[in-house]
Amino acid sequence: MKSYLTMSKEELQTEIAALKKEYSKFQSMELELDMSRGKPCKDQLDLSMGLMDALTSGADLCCEDGTDCRNYGVLGGIEEAKVLIGDMMENNPDNILIYGNSSLNVMYDQISRSFTHGVMGNTPWCQLDKVKWLCPVPGYDRHFGITEYFGIEMIPVPMSTEGPDMDTIEKLVAEDEAIKGIWCVPKYSNPQGYSYSDETVRRFARLKPAAKDFRIYWDNAYGIHHLYEDHQDYLIEILAECKRAGNPDIVYKFASTSKITFPGSGIAALATSPNNLEDIKNQLKHQTIGYDKVNQLRHVRFFKDIHGMVEHMKKHAGIIRPKFEAVEEIFEENLQGLDIACWTKPNGGYFISFDGLDGTAKEIVDRAKKAGVKLTPAGSTWPYHKDPHDSNIRIAPTYPPLEDLRTASRLFTVCVRLVSAQHLLDNYDERANITAPEQ
Ligand SMILES: Cc1ncc(COP(=O)(O)O)c(C=O)c1O
Repeated sequence: MKSYLTMSKEELQTEIAALKKEYSKFQSMELELDMSRGKPCKDQLDLSMGLMDALTSGADLCCEDGTDCRNYGVLGGIEEAKVLIGDMMENNPDNILIYGNSSLNVMYDQISRSFTHGVMGNTPWCQLDKVKWLCPVPGYDRHFGITEYFGIEMIPVPMSTEGPDMDTIEKLVAEDEAIKGIWCVPKYSNPQGYSYSDETVRRFARLKPAAKDFRIYWDNAYGIHHLYEDHQDYLIEILAECKRAGNPDIVYKFASTSKITFPGSGIAALATSPNNLEDIKNQLKHQTIGYDKVNQLRHVRFFKDIHGMVEHMKKHAGIIRPKFEAVEEIFEENLQGLDIACWTKPNGGYFISFDGLDGTAKEIVDRAKKAGVKLTPAGSTWPYHKDPHDSNIRIAPTYPPLEDLRTASRLFTVCVRLVSAQHLLDNYDERANITAPEQ
């Protein structure tokens, strides 16, 4: 296909006329499709229905150490859940605190407590003039939502296939004591699906922040969420690397079973150093007597061990891999070679990150919406919803049924072509300054 960047005015006009016809065909289909959120589909949820049978009224709800899960207590989580989640997170059970149903909630709590009570004896952030946070971009909108809610100034840091730009991070944290944290999704990142390289992880572990209470918020939400058995990303384990680097307290690592069993009804956990655990538990004990041990036990009985969980994840992959591949195939078929778009091809996680020409993302999303396909709002992948390039769109392929997803992806490519061709025509005299998007 011919590059749109080299088309004459007449060629662009002909293209636009043809695309408008295609677009109106989609409009007449009265679609109602949703590619906006990274939710598991019904078939994926059905995989975990055994959870509902794992505990019955006749079951013994006592743990191996005799703890009765029906009663109060055990703030840090039952031992067998710590072992299972420890294996999932590649951490020693002693470093793990099992929480409730959401890891995002744990992250929120960490920040909230840092504001009210401070981190390990440091000044509570509410007493500081300014708190700043590093935000690799594009990133996860709900992370940015938490830091925005607390009035934290967010500083975007560019991502590459290796992870966030470490030169920038090292410099900023060393210079500025107001920087207290960074959001990281180190494996199959949201939305690009990138995994941090060994060098990136090593450099994270060796950061020398000016702020003693700076913490890396290492959200390993997609640690075991591979799409392929033979192409899997690996990550150096951050807690062990921080310990080796003499920086044991610098990281909080988060995970949950949200996209393993039932989102919102799973279990979440934090892995961190003994010092951090002590600090957190001292505050947490005032917040709750203990989390839902019955649900922890239910998960343990359902999976039995990490092998059970790994086998379970293969079933998830079997359902969602064809969806990722369908989107990639349709994008390649309809957008490859036009120089108006690029997209990621992750080995795991829940998203594909799409970049169009600068200044087109909002309109592409609007166009798709008007034809019945809901996408994540443009700008969501940036702090304050402000993508300065207006180019990035997060694609979430997991939720719609495969055929719907194909239709939605085709419509999406028509919107991309139409909006891009119009953009190039409208800016024809400045086209020398317009470049093809690159990952
Ligand atoms: C990177 C990341 N972290 C956390 C979450 C939410 O996790 P939880 O359901 O455990 O709160 C998501 C959900 O999309 C996510 O993409």
